[in-house]
Amino acid sequence: MKRIKKAIIPAAGLGTRFLPATKTVPKEMLTIVDAPIILYVVEEAIKAGIEDIVLVAGRGKHAIEDFFDTSYELEDRLAKDGKSHLLEKLTRIRDMANIISIRQKQALGLGHAILTAQPIVGQEPFAVLLGDEITMETKGSENVTSLLCRSFDDTGVSAVSIMKVEDSEVSKYGIADVSEIKPGFFRVNDLVEKPKVSEAPSRWALPGRYAFDSHIMTLLKDAKPSLNGEIQLTDSMRLLCREKGLNAMTFSSKRFDAGDKLGYLQANVELGLQNPELGESLKQYLLQLCSELGKG
Ligand code: UTP
Repeated sequence: MKRIKKAIIPAAGLGTRFLPATKTVPKEMLTIVDAPIILYVVEEAIKAGIEDIVLVAGRGKHAIEDFFDTSYELEDRLAKDGKSHLLEKLTRIRDMANIISIRQKQALGLGHAILTAQPIVGQEPFAVLLGDEITMETKGSENVTSLLCRSFDDTGVSAVSIMKVEDSEVSKYGIADVSEIKPGFFRVNDLVEKPKVSEAPSRWALPGRYAFDSHIMTLLKDAKPSLNGEIQLTDSMRLLCREKGLNAMTFSSKRFDAGDKLGYLQANVELGLQNPELGESLKQYLLQLCSELGKG
């Protein structure tokens, strides 16, 4: 059985929720503390044992590609100035993974973005990490992509992450109808993309982490545009579910939708608190702010 060694990171969406910032900067390049969102996503993939990362880029492709490339002038200056800790940070990013970039010429939906990477992944199984979602490991938690890849490697069955959402959030996600096999591990019976609360089969939503059998590519090839005229990944996942099965797993890492303004701010605060240089000062500032807000 083939193990997962490749990951696709779709990063070609228009990022309309983040306009005007995303008019010229791809949202995946917006900064969380001191690094672009995409770096956190790539680091999660590498930690999960991924060797090749296929970046599906659109506008601003060069900004993302350049970020993972050598910057001779900058590296030379840092070396001459003796700023070895900064130089190390840059060279680590440059050398961290084999990143292959491919362009989605039109933002025709997440399913289409994944299909764009098919010539690179071929017949291999692969992970998908949405380029605007960040997960943060908490004490004792396993990285979400590791969890999914391990499940695929053990069973040969595709796997998705799931999380419980409030009623008000249901219409923002793909929602799964699931049967629990053991605590935290489910079989997916069906999926609905962005349903109304009254039509949702559950409150189990799919955030942006998946581990797929290569058969999903065959299904995506035949997929027709549906909701919003886009090729929806959920449509092909429904078929995958019937033809090859699909598992779902809960996770204990924290997850942030950094493509959403509130999620982005939350990610900055929580990852800022974990930062060794800033954490304590930020905590003091937040405590002070909370006490002021409490008085107000
Ligand atoms: P989103 O639906 O969150 O991205 O897709 P979007 O369309 O850019 O967002 P808004 O709603 O306009 O703000 C989730 C991920 O899939 C990628 C996005 O870049 C994001 O990382 N995506 C989406 C593509 O790569 N191509 C697409 O056609 C659509």
